[in-house]
Amino acid sequence: MKPLAPFKTIPTLMALLCAGCSGWQSALDSHGVEAGRLATLFWFIMGVCAVVWLLVMAVLVAALLRRRGRGENQHGQERRLGLAVAAAVASTATIITILTLASFITTRAVSSSGRDALEIEVRGFQWWWQVTYAPDGTQPAMVTANEIHIPVGRPVRLMLVSSDVIHSFWVPSLAGKLDLIPGRTNELTLTATRAGLYRGQCAEFCGLQHAHMGMTVIAQTPEEFARWRAAQALPAGPPGTPEEEAGLEAFLSTPCAACHTVRGTQATGKLGPDLTHVGSRRHIGAGLLETTRGSLAAWIADPQTLKPGNNMPMVSLTPDQLRAISAYLASLR
Ligand code: CUA
Repeated sequence: MKPLAPFKTIPTLMALLCAGCSGWQSALDSHGVEAGRLATLFWFIMGVCAVVWLLVMAVLVAALLRRRGRGENQHGQERRLGLAVAAAVASTATIITILTLASFITTRAVSSSGRDALEIEVRGFQWWWQVTYAPDGTQPAMVTANEIHIPVGRPVRLMLVSSDVIHSFWVPSLAGKLDLIPGRTNELTLTATRAGLYRGQCAEFCGLQHAHMGMTVIAQTPEEFARWRAAQALPAGPPGTPEEEAGLEAFLSTPCAACHTVRGTQATGKLGPDLTHVGSRRHIGAGLLETTRGSLAAWIADPQTLKPGNNMPMVSLTPDQLRAISAYLASLR
């Protein structure tokens, strides 16, 4: 590869550096209360370390430039050395204490969710996320996958659990990172301050498709969220066309229904994601593909090529069945 000329390399590197500071998956572009506190802590520690580094460099340069021992006896030199070491030890201890305190205060602040929190269980699977909303007021419990809708301004308490191996929940724009550990429930609070789409990613290596274990968090106004939740709590609507009708029939008569639930039908499988409103989600395969009829068909036809190692087997379907099932699933909005 031809090396880039410096006038191209430097702007490219600068652009790469800055790219980490913004976007829908950046801890430094916070859109949530908890992420904001963490970003403040980051910049505070960064600032203190920058000042320390500059001071050390200044002292180093001064020491190099200074000519040694001009008219000073050995006793004087030792005394100055002793003073310098004492000052360095005292300032190191002070700085470490301040940083530890700041870190402690931030950790306490980000882990308290208060009362009125919306409670959601997030369960990690190789390699997708099951999202279960606890009953809330008049709203019943409800299950979905890989997409978490939350209301802006209300704290959300996530109960993080895992069914197989250790995963880690991380939506950098909204909150810090926390592991999902089998046999244990970890609590993470996040409060979105601005409506928008935020990307999350499993942040603990959990097997072959760890990199394809993404999720989307959609922060909405409380009214939009209430509408979304009410719609999601409903069972799937009846098929609207003869093709969708054939799709539902094929779905129920093939192994699909043994692993997936479509509420309102006889499909009550629990091994894979709940598909009741799969057509309304932005992605399938935990962030792998945008949800379209075409991508659903591609996924069903050969899930092992698209996401090798995942637990969805290749089910043998006729071309007509494949077309009908993908039309039916895309219609589940
Ligand atoms: Cu789940 Cu990495």
